[in-house]
Amino acid sequence: SREELDARIRAAKAQLGERVVVLGHFYQRDEVVQYADYVGDSFQLATAAKARRDAEAIVFCGVHFMAETADLLSAPEQAVILPNLAAGCSMADMADIDQVEECWEQLMEVYGEEPDADGLAPIIPVTYMNSAADLKGFVGRHGGIVCTSSNARTVLDWAFARGRRVLFFPDQHLGRNTAKAMGIGLEQMPLWNPRRPLGGNDERTLQDAKVVLWHGFCSVHKRFTTAQIDQARAEHPDVRVIVHPECPMPVVDAADEAGSTDYIRKAIEAAEEPTTFAIGTEINLVQRLAAQHPQHTIFCLDPVVCPCSTMYRIHPGYLAWVLESLLEGEVINRITVGQDVAEPARLALERMLAAKP
Ligand code: 13P
Ligand code: SF4
Repeated sequence: SREELDARIRAAKAQLGERVVVLGHFYQRDEVVQYADYVGDSFQLATAAKARRDAEAIVFCGVHFMAETADLLSAPEQAVILPNLAAGCSMADMADIDQVEECWEQLMEVYGEEPDADGLAPIIPVTYMNSAADLKGFVGRHGGIVCTSSNARTVLDWAFARGRRVLFFPDQHLGRNTAKAMGIGLEQMPLWNPRRPLGGNDERTLQDAKVVLWHGFCSVHKRFTTAQIDQARAEHPDVRVIVHPECPMPVVDAADEAGSTDYIRKAIEAAEEPTTFAIGTEINLVQRLAAQHPQHTIFCLDPVVCPCSTMYRIHPGYLAWVLESLLEGEVINRITVGQDVAEPARLALERMLAAKP
């Protein structure tokens, strides 16, 4: 039962004490978030993992790429545990490393590998945090960098200080929305077509490109529409619409603001007057914010509930299981990134952590 599980998790956590740190992403369900020592967005949880090098184990209540990132940033002897190994991310899965290598080879044929007269590389690869460690490693090996939804703009500035163009993985929407906010025109953001590489990607367009976008997307955020925003405005003329930058560009354009999960949380916390907020992001976070701020009216733009199905795979039962196993001296569901990938992937992450706005 719920009570039994609750008691088991509490008892195991109490016995483990400082030996274990539990991290929980904002999109985790409340039954899991209540046990997290740190709750945050993907950037904050990466820094929390880096900061807690004293703990023997990091239990990551989130998805696979986040646990990999925690492994890259934690101490070698620390174990990073993903309570359910089936908690992946469909967006991260959309950037297969073989396709990425092929794309890079083709781009090198078009651009050449040498820097131009100003010393700028022809193209710098940038990957969203929401990607597998091997893609972060690829990016690190080619002079590139990682970004999250909270620092994408800063990271693109970093990249344009070093290269003429950016190849952005895997989320086309975050890439397009960020580049557009920087004043880059849509005609300078071709979408890479992996099925018909050079045939489907006209060389002239590629020469003129500023940001070449990979074709990935988030299945949760792509569901939001401008019709939902129109309806929210019709029903609540004073509504403040805030969406995540993983939403399609027309949705971001129609919203009042766009920002990462932590941006959304802070915007609500900063509102002094009772306000109506329509939010375009995952439902667990929206419902929690609504419960925490009863003075405001907060609802999700999508009337059909939209949880992230893979985040949801972290059930409290798995949390109890991994914590109790730790108590018995057994590390289960450990996530480790192989040495050859880890080194360049860490480099790409460290570049992000050092990039200044
Ligand atoms: P942030 O936590 O960076 O806002 O990302 C949202 C998300 O989709 C995580 O999977
Ligand atoms: Fe991946 Fe989207 Fe779920 Fe985030 S919300 S973990 S990007 S599928």
